[in-house]
Amino acid sequence: MGAFPFVPRVLPFLFLGLAQALGAQSALTIPSLIPLPVEIEQLQGECALKCPWSVTRGHGVTKALGDLLQAELDSLHPKSAVKCEKALDIELSLFQPDTILPPETYWLTVEKDRILIKAPTEEGLFRGTRTLIQLLEGGVGDMRLPCLRISDHPRFAWRGMHLDVVRHFFLVSFVKSYIDLLARYKLNTFHWHLTDDQGWRIEIKKYPKLTEVGAWRKGSQVGPYSAQTFDTLRYGGFYTQEEIRDVVAYAAARHIAVVPEIEMPGHALAALAAYPELSCTRGPFSVERGWGVFPDVFCPKEETFIFLENVLDEVIGLFPSPYIHIGGDECPKERWHECPHCQALMQQEGLKDEHELQSYFIRRIEKFVNSKGRKIIGWDEILEGGLAPNAAVMSWRGTEGGIASAKAGHYAVMSPGSHCYFDHYQGDPANEPLAIGGYTPLQKTYSYEPIPAELNAEESKYILGAQGNVWTEYILTEDHLEYMAVPRALALSEVLWSPAASRNEADFLRRLKAEFPALERLRINAAQSMFDPVLHLAPGANPGEVMVSMECPCEGQPFVLDARSLEGVPYTGPIIAKNNLTIRALCKDIHGNEQGRMVSRRILYSKATARNITLDRAPSEKYADGGAFTLVNGITAGARRVNHEWLGWRGGEVTITVDLDSAQDLRFLGLGALNEPSSWIHPPEAIEISTSLDGLTFEKQGDAPMKKGEGRREVAVVKPCKARYVRYIVHAWKAIPVGQPGAGEPAWLFLDEVIIN
Ligand code: ACM
Ligand code: ZN
Repeated sequence: MGAFPFVPRVLPFLFLGLAQALGAQSALTIPSLIPLPVEIEQLQGECALKCPWSVTRGHGVTKALGDLLQAELDSLHPKSAVKCEKALDIELSLFQPDTILPPETYWLTVEKDRILIKAPTEEGLFRGTRTLIQLLEGGVGDMRLPCLRISDHPRFAWRGMHLDVVRHFFLVSFVKSYIDLLARYKLNTFHWHLTDDQGWRIEIKKYPKLTEVGAWRKGSQVGPYSAQTFDTLRYGGFYTQEEIRDVVAYAAARHIAVVPEIEMPGHALAALAAYPELSCTRGPFSVERGWGVFPDVFCPKEETFIFLENVLDEVIGLFPSPYIHIGGDECPKERWHECPHCQALMQQEGLKDEHELQSYFIRRIEKFVNSKGRKIIGWDEILEGGLAPNAAVMSWRGTEGGIASAKAGHYAVMSPGSHCYFDHYQGDPANEPLAIGGYTPLQKTYSYEPIPAELNAEESKYILGAQGNVWTEYILTEDHLEYMAVPRALALSEVLWSPAASRNEADFLRRLKAEFPALERLRINAAQSMFDPVLHLAPGANPGEVMVSMECPCEGQPFVLDARSLEGVPYTGPIIAKNNLTIRALCKDIHGNEQGRMVSRRILYSKATARNITLDRAPSEKYADGGAFTLVNGITAGARRVNHEWLGWRGGEVTITVDLDSAQDLRFLGLGALNEPSSWIHPPEAIEISTSLDGLTFEKQGDAPMKKGEGRREVAVVKPCKARYVRYIVHAWKAIPVGQPGAGEPAWLFLDEVIIN
C-alpha cells in the first residue's frame, strides 16, 4: 500500500497496563481490542452504558448498516430495569475528507453521553463498528466505558481467510458464521475453495453434471494418510447459485470480498468425472475419495477452454470480487507429456516444455477473465513457465513465489505454509486432533512479517497482504474447523491490520485471554493450545547431556510433574538428562490455576544421544529447526509429522558423523527416516555406514537395507564392531519413481534420529 498521510502511533501506556498508567485518575480501563488499533487515547470521564443503545445514521449512511449494528447492540445490551429518559446515542457519520485517507479509515470517540464513529466510507464505518462491539462487550460488566478516542486504519489491503469446502463440505449457515468471524476481526477477504479432485461444490447451470456427478464421492479417506483407509459412505454437497448469491450478499454487508476459487488445470477430477472428454485420456474417472495430487488434469484443448470460459462466465456473474482465483497449484504434467494433442499444441505454439504449456493455459484463461473486467490470482506455480501478464500470485510454498512476483511488478498475497496454514498442528501433536502435519503454533503466526526482507520499498508495494488457509482433509466438523482457525486467524488479523511497530506477543496473548469469554458467548470452539507449556531441548554443557528448559506463555509458571506427584514442583531451571527420561510439564497462571494442558517428552538414550554430530551439508532452511542436534536429541519422531522433529534435504546426499567420545563395542548402527510419498518424502535410496577408531580411517560396516511401508522407518546395520566414530552417507532419491506424486523431481529426505547401541 502507498504512503499514508499520517504516521501510525501507539501510545506507549498500552503496554504498561492502562490502570497503572492512569494511576488514581480512574479505575476504568479501556477494554482490550483485537486487532490493536493504530492510535488509542483515554480521555477524562466516562460514558454510562445502562440506557438502551440507539444507532443514529448520519447523511448517506445506509439503513442496512444501521439495522445490522442495531440488531447486534440489542443482543448485547443486558436488559435492565433502569428508567431512562434518553437512549445512549451511537452515531454513524460519513464525511468528505480534504486529504486522501487509507481505505477503511475510521475514528471512534466515546464521550460522556454519546459514541461517535466517523469515516470517509461506509466500509470504514463498518470496521469502526467492529471496534465498538468489542468495546461494549468489555464495558457491559460494570455498565460504563472510559471516554476515549481511537484513530484507526489497516496496514494491508488483503486480509484473508480461506476455506476448503471440497475435502469436507460446510453448510451455508456455517459459511456465514465463518464470515462473521472474519468481520469481527476486520479481515476483509474470504477465499472460497469451491472445486477440487474430491468434489465440485458450485452449481453451474450450463453444466448440470458438475454437481449431479461431480459433487458426490463414493467414500472418503479416513484416519492418517499413511493408513490409506477409506470408508464407503456417499459424501458430498454443493451450493446452489441462489445460496452463493445469499452468501456473497451476506459478506458484502460486512464489507468482505468473496474470492471464488475454480481449480485448473490440476485438481480437476470432480469435473473430469462429470465431463471425461475434457481430459487427455477421456477417462472414465470417479470423484476422488483420497487426498493428494492426481495425474489426470484438464487437457488444454478448445473444448476445455470453451467449458472453462462458460463456467467462469457464470462464476463472474455470481461474485463481484475484482479477483477470481483460478488455482494453478500441483498440476502433474505426465498426461500432457503423453498426449498427442498436447504435444502438437506445444509444437504449434513453440512451447519448450509442459511448464510453458501450463503457462499457455493460464494466459488463455487470464485473457478471458480480463475481458470480463476481472483479474486472476493463482497459487505460486503459475509463475512456472512464465507469469500471465496481469496475474497476481498467492505464495504458499514459502515466500519465494511472492518475492518473484513483486520483483516482476505483479501483486502477491502471502500465504506461506510455515506461518499461514491453519491445517497444521498448533500444539504438541500428542495433545491435538489428527492434522495433515506441519507445526504452526499461534505465536509463529503472530510473528509473521508479510513484507519479505528481500524486497525494497518499491517492490513491497506489490504485497497486498496475507491470508490464512484452512484445508479440510482432516477437518470434518464445524467445531473442529473453528478449533483450527481460531485463534490463529486472530493473530493474523493483528499482523495484517495493526502497525508493525505495535506487534507485541505478550500483550497480544493477554488480550487474547480476555477475548475468550466473547468467543464462548459466540459459541466459537477456539483452541487454547497456545497456553500449553513449551519444552526446548538443547545440548547440555557436556557430551551426552540433553538440557531441557520450559516456558509458559502469559507469565505462567511451569511445573514439573513426576510419576508420583500430579501437583508437580515448580520449575526453577533447566533439567539435565543423562539417561532415559520422561518429562511432563504443566503451566499455572499467576493465580495458581492450571493453564493449558500437560505436555510430555520422552528422551530415549542410545550411545549417540547428545554426542558431537557433524553434517557435511546443511538441511533445507525450511526443515532445519533444531540443527544437527535434532538427530541426537533422544527424540524419535512420533507418528504425526511435525517438522521440528525432522531435518529435511531436497535430493542429493548428506554425510553424518557422530563422535561417541570413546571407543566402544557396538552392534546396532541405525537411522530413522520418513516415508511419506504424498509429500514427496522418500526414505533414502542408499545408506552406507562405516566406523572409525581415530576419525581418519573409516571401515565400511554395510549398507542399511531399505524398509517398506509408510511413516517413520528405522534402518540399521546390525553387526558387532568397536568404534568411536560412526559415519552415515545417505543418498536421497535423485528422481521420484514414476507413478508417485512428484515423479521425476528430486525426493525429499527426512531424518529424525541416529540410534547407536
Ligand atoms: C496448496 O496448498 N496446494 C495451495
Ligand atoms: Zn492433452
